[in-house]
Amino acid sequence: MFKMHHITKFFYQGQILRRKRQVVQDVSLSLAPGETLGLIGPSGAGKSTIGKLAVRLIKPSHGRLSFEGRDITHASRSIAKQVRTKMQIIFQDPQASLHPGKTIDNLLREPLRLHRLMSRAEEPGAVKRMLHQVGLNADILNRYPKAVSGGEKQRIVIARVMAVKPRFVVLDEPTSMLDVSVQANILHLLLTLQRERNMAYLYISHDMRLVARLCQRVAVVDQGRIVEQGPVNEIMARPRHACTRRLLRIGNL
Ligand SMILES: Nc1ncnc2c1ncn2[C@@H]1O[C@H](COP(=O)(O)OP(=O)(O)OP(=O)(O)O)[C@@H](O)[C@H]1O
Ligand SMILES: [Mg+2]
Repeated sequence: MFKMHHITKFFYQGQILRRKRQVVQDVSLSLAPGETLGLIGPSGAGKSTIGKLAVRLIKPSHGRLSFEGRDITHASRSIAKQVRTKMQIIFQDPQASLHPGKTIDNLLREPLRLHRLMSRAEEPGAVKRMLHQVGLNADILNRYPKAVSGGEKQRIVIARVMAVKPRFVVLDEPTSMLDVSVQANILHLLLTLQRERNMAYLYISHDMRLVARLCQRVAVVDQGRIVEQGPVNEIMARPRHACTRRLLRIGNL
């Protein structure tokens, strides 16, 4: 359902010399409905950039992207709009995704309005269902983001993303800023939602243990390139690349 075909991304740096920097090089990935592909690699390897390219938050320099049989490499405005709700991204810092001046109630209504999913009269019912789905209580609705915990904030972010019924979600280290005890709950929630809706996930992490728990396949990224890719258990049992071995050693500490 989702394919990245030989994707490359350059960034230009510097005001005068405009040095070209290749951050993602010749990356090809594919995902089937209901599947989770792990993307693992050291810091600065290009994982977040690949995630943003996948949902077309940024435009590739070379290569092709397709989603549900449609070429979205040069998505026009109208195609981009149709595709935008179906492809979503969740970042590691829930704080950054939630406007501090809005109540949780308003934050949950935001995607419903933005994508014109229903009338105003239907919103309270939908908000209630969104809360229920992510395991939150209605007493949170009148609070502001600063008055809810990190785990609750990430649940709110997840509720907002799931409200638009995505088919493909990039999870960019969604639990790395949360307490270990909360991490497991959030991952469990993401897995439950995935099973209910048969969504495809691209799960970015640098923790091989989490990847092993969540993913069927994994792609290892080093310096912008995929250095190996395959079933998680095979790669964990027989890592071929030095970078993968390093990540496995860190994971075993
Ligand atoms: N907009 C940009 N302009 C220039 N360089 C960028 C830009 N975005 C990212 N980079 C660079 O691209 C490289 C890859 O960044 P990216 O955020 O994709 O890494 P990452 O694998 O997600 O790292 P981490 O594990 O620390 O999150 C980094 O060297 C980063 O500085
Ligand atoms: Mg990153």
